[in-house]
Amino acid sequence: MDDWRYPAEPFRIKSVESITLIPRARREEILKEARYNIFKIKAEHIYIDLLTDSGTGAMSSEQWAALMRGDESYAGARSFYRFEKIIKEITGKKFIIPVHQGRVAENVFFSTVLKKGDYVPNNTHFDTTRANAQHKGGIPVDFPCPEASLDDEIPFKGNIDTQRLEGFIEEKGAEHIPVVFMTVTNNSSGGQPVSMANIKETSEICGKHGIMFFFDCARFAENAYFIKKSEPGFQDKTVKEIAQEMFSYVDGALMSAKKDGLANMGGFIALNDEELARRITELLIVIEGFSTYGGMSGRDIEAVAAGLNEVLNEDYLAYRVGQVEYFGKMIEKAGAPIIKPAGGHAIFIDAGKFLPHIKPDQFPGQALTVELYREGGIRAVEIGSLMFGGYDPNTGEKLTATKELVRLAIPRRVYTASHLDYVADIIAGISKRKDQLRGYKILRQATLLRHFTIELDELSPEEVKVR
Ligand code: F0G
Repeated sequence: MDDWRYPAEPFRIKSVESITLIPRARREEILKEARYNIFKIKAEHIYIDLLTDSGTGAMSSEQWAALMRGDESYAGARSFYRFEKIIKEITGKKFIIPVHQGRVAENVFFSTVLKKGDYVPNNTHFDTTRANAQHKGGIPVDFPCPEASLDDEIPFKGNIDTQRLEGFIEEKGAEHIPVVFMTVTNNSSGGQPVSMANIKETSEICGKHGIMFFFDCARFAENAYFIKKSEPGFQDKTVKEIAQEMFSYVDGALMSAKKDGLANMGGFIALNDEELARRITELLIVIEGFSTYGGMSGRDIEAVAAGLNEVLNEDYLAYRVGQVEYFGKMIEKAGAPIIKPAGGHAIFIDAGKFLPHIKPDQFPGQALTVELYREGGIRAVEIGSLMFGGYDPNTGEKLTATKELVRLAIPRRVYTASHLDYVADIIAGISKRKDQLRGYKILRQATLLRHFTIELDELSPEEVKVR
């Protein structure tokens, strides 16, 4: 259907924030000043910001109202118990440990469970998860399912490759693998969901080998919605029941509530193991805050509690997932190849395919990212050799990315269809003269999470020829 639109926004707009498109010449200067690193561009100089769906959503009137209820007591705040109640209801876990964002959950968790040289399997690690595991001496390993690398429109491309996972466990020995992670939805492999069958099978494998199984559950509600939509047997269940079943197969979960918590800040660790919860809490108090606020203010905690009550609303999820799908169709029509099917929170353009004349070590994803800003004041993010390349800080080994992607993440409840149509129009313009785009070279870089601070320069036409 050519004129298919997603289900209309199940909300109306009560408060607005102005945005402007600054002149093109100024955008060109800004790119130079930022050394072609879009993280260094001021938000006021961005027109449509699709850098991330993390912490960038719009809160509901219920959430704004909840802020006033924020109990700022140092210990035992009422807000914490509301937060704990909804998380226990969704996850079924006994111990809920608040943190101010996902990467702190990763830090305290890995600090507590990892020994140097331990392996951490995952379907695909998100960059902070990978970095935190490495920072604690761990070796993150990814086992995306074989379908993940195919172009076909297959559901549940976020799955973990259970065969390879089990082979790996047998090869390395369960004693060197304290935990297996599963990222739901699988952000770094295109925001693709994981099926209940895959969750269950992974749980059985971990159980058999006595290894803990945890979710990185930043986008659990979107994942649950995909299960309802596409996995046989789940159509008559509520998304909440599906989410509860998902969590029933894991020992615990780390959550960045900046995504499906529908909040601007927040997170938690949920788990059943009392001794582990105690050790994590001890470290939490040293580096993050007391166990009933974990680095959040009482009002942040209220916003997350209210957000978790809203995110499983099926009208909201149909609109949310539908909007992303619509955006994907518009981008394809504009001539850019995307990872299919559309993920839950973002569209990923395959820049490697879109710009085959730019080799991975010249960062085709970054070339497109820069061009989106230059042409349309749009901010996207490269997820390819710039983000995942460089060198392993533990082994010194050269790292490569499996794909050269550009992610256009959609903040929750923020942009309308006409904003997305504008982005697609800009992409259509770039498509027409894509052969003229040039790659980039690195001027300066850090060892961990280099993409945040990297400095780049565009290759000159002469340099392009030499390379
Ligand atoms: N896990 C996943 C799957 C994530 O996508 C993120 C963050 C984190 C953990 C870390 O959470 O930011 O609260 O510390 N993802 C953001 C993104 C930054 O843009 O995808 P955090």
